[in-house]
Amino acid sequence: MGGNLLYENNSYLPPRHGKDVARVRSQQEYEELYNFALADNDTFWERRARSLLHWSRPWEKVNNSDFSVPRVEWFRGARLNAAYNCVDRHIITDHRNKAALIWQGEREMEVRAYTYQMLYNDVCRVAAALDGLGIRKGDRVALYLPMIPELVIAMLACARLGAVHTNIFTGYAEGGVKNRINDSGARIVITADVVMRGGKPKPLKANLDRILGQCPSVQKVIVVNRSDDSVQMMRGRDVWWQDFLEDFTLDADFPCVPMDANDPLFLLHTSGSTGRPTGVLHSTGGYLTYAAHTTQWVFDLKDSDVYWCTADCGWITGHTYLVYGPLALGATTIMFEGTPTWPRPDRYWRIVEKFRVNILYTAPTVVRGMMRDGEEWTRRYDLSSLRILGSVGEPMNPEAWVWYHTHIGKGELPIVDTWWQTETGGVMISPLPYATSLRPGSVTRPLPGIDADIVDRNGQPKPVNEGGNLVVRNSWPGQFIGVFQNEEKFKSYFDRFPGMYFSGDGARRDEDGNYWILGRMDDNINVSGHRLSTSEIESVLAAHPAVAEPAVVPVPHELKGEAIYVFVALKNGIDWTEALRSELRDFVRKNIGALASPEVIQFVDDLPKTLSGKTVRRILRKIAAGDDLESLGDTTTLARPEILGEIYLARNRLALGQPEKQAD
Ligand code: WTA
Repeated sequence: MGGNLLYENNSYLPPRHGKDVARVRSQQEYEELYNFALADNDTFWERRARSLLHWSRPWEKVNNSDFSVPRVEWFRGARLNAAYNCVDRHIITDHRNKAALIWQGEREMEVRAYTYQMLYNDVCRVAAALDGLGIRKGDRVALYLPMIPELVIAMLACARLGAVHTNIFTGYAEGGVKNRINDSGARIVITADVVMRGGKPKPLKANLDRILGQCPSVQKVIVVNRSDDSVQMMRGRDVWWQDFLEDFTLDADFPCVPMDANDPLFLLHTSGSTGRPTGVLHSTGGYLTYAAHTTQWVFDLKDSDVYWCTADCGWITGHTYLVYGPLALGATTIMFEGTPTWPRPDRYWRIVEKFRVNILYTAPTVVRGMMRDGEEWTRRYDLSSLRILGSVGEPMNPEAWVWYHTHIGKGELPIVDTWWQTETGGVMISPLPYATSLRPGSVTRPLPGIDADIVDRNGQPKPVNEGGNLVVRNSWPGQFIGVFQNEEKFKSYFDRFPGMYFSGDGARRDEDGNYWILGRMDDNINVSGHRLSTSEIESVLAAHPAVAEPAVVPVPHELKGEAIYVFVALKNGIDWTEALRSELRDFVRKNIGALASPEVIQFVDDLPKTLSGKTVRRILRKIAAGDDLESLGDTTTLARPEILGEIYLARNRLALGQPEKQAD
């Protein structure tokens, strides 16, 4: 290795070692690509699409998008199949026997590896079985599965048939699962008996059994046997996955269904600004091009690399950077079922050493957790195979950046802090590891082809170092093509600033053109990199019989980045008890999932409101964070400013572990 990264002008310079063989080799090459993509956008993307993917029919037009409609349309008229690109085309090359997917189970000795040929065999068989169950192009299939290879196989089997998979994170419980299934209208759900958590099986199929009576679209449930747990199988509705794979009458070479470039590849729900989750739709051609393109450039992915993205496939990062990007490139991708800390806080480093991982892509919350557990855990392992580190999901604070760089990167490795969203399909603003000078805490520069900007409320560009709204002026192939059955919601992303896509994030740009993400401008909360909507949590709480009115705000949290702080006014005559507090917490967990579990629930007599009756969350945010009473800003527009003092004192009592109200 080449020694520590040089530090100049508050920046870490890119590593010299490996530069000559990098995909993008220097700042100058980045600038050239950036300028070329700006000047001749269609040619730039056309070249990338042609060199990265196999198309069975060429396009008539590269970019037919128009934000004023809005319409996002790439590679019109072209045809391809995502499973063909991720699997089939590799088995006719010398990649046939390469490890495509290496799965590390929660237990150390549970490892399964699939070569491209083996992946092909299982994907074909499952596609044939789904076809036998009547699944056709355009049908939705919900995947409520743990991080096991069957999840990847199911995604690719859907892609093979042109069915639209809609993955549901296993951290969601009944209510969250029900909403997502019903919004998608899935005909089939694929699940498992259990999901493994900290060495113990937690029921998954049983969660479904409780809600399927309220999911009229679901006709069949396919159950993967993960742990021989006993489950109830409903005759005529539920079938075992394993029975599919043993059915030798199924077509072992089930053909790929040719897809239009703009047919949807998948649907993935993210948090919207309403109580209802937003069903983000991604295309087949544009999305897959962008997934492959960004995986190759941002991670400088080479054929010989072992690449590990730690995200769950229930989130967009797992879709793009565990499955579609790496497999489209014929790479070796690692999938880990467990968590960083079970059975000990060394799990990631064990895996890096065991498989000689070259590229590691994880989240700031994971890094902060490791900082807390101490670097001793990292020293016991040989991490010298690592070449590039990545981060995604929330702002990476400079302390965490430096720790990651020092203790994992040994002072030598670049960190690509990648900014993007479910809606963008892939990375938008990020360093290129061998070309970009790094500033801890900054996501640096937009990738070539991405015309980002920071604008004020009137859509005018903001001066250097002033915070504003992060927008993108031109479409890119990975951009979402719609919101499932909700045209209005899709429009709302383009309404705020005409001619631009608004990300919902705030950002500023420094004097060298580096972007610094300031967080969400809307009512999304980012807990451990998981995007949640405050209004979704509020609407659940409002449905509880004891609750008159809830207000949910983010509060800074050392490990999670942000945590959920709930203020609740109860109905008349209902007592503020600890029993009710834990009941409300359980109510949220049951109706959305453990990931939405409130950090603090504070009872209040009344919520602060404006004269027009709007709850003032801006002030509640500050109170929750423990800011001084004097710093709450303008309170003159409040109907009853005098209540703030008591809410504030009660907050401090709670923080000290005392009840809100002092005993009389
Ligand atoms: C935040 C995850 C700072 C941001 C891929 C965005 C980040 C939201 C970063 C999207 C980063 C993501 N630095 N903030 N590197 N990456 N975010 O849809 O607020 O789950 O809008 O997609 O996460 O979350 P989503």
